[in-house]
Amino acid sequence: MNTILQNQIALITGAADGIGAAIARRFAEAGADLVLLDVQEAANTALAESLAKTYRVHTLAVRADVSSTEAVNGAVAAALERFGRVDILVNNAAVAISGDPSEMPDADWERVISTNLSSAFRLIRAVLPGMKERKAGCILNIASTQAHRSWDNWTAYAAAKGGLLAMTTQLAGQLGPDNIRVNAISPGAIDTPMNDRRVAAEGETLRKQWARMHALGRTGKPDEVAEAALFLCSPAAGFITGHDLKVEGGLLCLPRN
Ligand SMILES: NC(=O)c1ccc[n+]([C@@H]2O[C@H](COP(=O)([O-])OP(=O)(O)OC[C@H]3O[C@@H](n4cnc5c(N)ncnc54)[C@H](O)[C@@H]3O)[C@@H](O)[C@H]2O)c1
Repeated sequence: MNTILQNQIALITGAADGIGAAIARRFAEAGADLVLLDVQEAANTALAESLAKTYRVHTLAVRADVSSTEAVNGAVAAALERFGRVDILVNNAAVAISGDPSEMPDADWERVISTNLSSAFRLIRAVLPGMKERKAGCILNIASTQAHRSWDNWTAYAAAKGGLLAMTTQLAGQLGPDNIRVNAISPGAIDTPMNDRRVAAEGETLRKQWARMHALGRTGKPDEVAEAALFLCSPAAGFITGHDLKVEGGLLCLPRN
């Protein structure tokens, strides 16, 4: 067993499913104790219990909506009460809401920005005092290739992801002297429930389109993102900060089709 994250406390948002669940599993396998945040209480609790049993790590499942400052502050307080600190923060929770920019209602725009961007700020604000005090910490923001490419009607989602990347650069510069590393991952299309829901709404041909968009001719697996997350949050990446690691099967190498 690889114990590269032993004695590390990692808080992961949107942990109950998809990429967040894969990161939780990979981190547990590497020996980290986990605080798992999600709005899906039953699935999140089941995952926390199963990881604790399988990998003999300590886990805490917290039901929290990352779009609420009160819920985030409560979740971080629960994490600190249980473990005393948060060493690694993974901002992963997000919603995928599209909309024609000439018609998108304020409520949809604000939900995307609050859940996908302001959420990361709320979490960072809550864990930062402890990280600064210990002069150690690692923050990972899950962005998207949508921050690098144009796709019709994904303005709000792309704006949130672009904001996360700008925040990553900004904070990496500011927090370097405190030995806090801040990085991002921009995934391509990954096989998760988020994309299953889009296929259900838009049709099976979307999967084939997604596969063709990538130089490798396929979509990615949540485990492939989790492996990159483990690297960036481990001592192996000790001199890497302010980086956006693109886990996208060559999507950004190809012309847009
Ligand atoms: N799947 C992809 O193709 C893809 C591509 C690029 C980036 N991403 C990003 O990767 C991350 C994970 O995506 P995924 O595909 O695994 O999504 P998913 O929908 O499969 O899982 C997201 C998880 O976040 C939780 N969540 C949603 N809103 C929440 C809230 N307000 N508070 C707390 N938890 C909440 C959900 O319950 C779910 O467990 C997201 O940031 C997404 O934008 C995904």
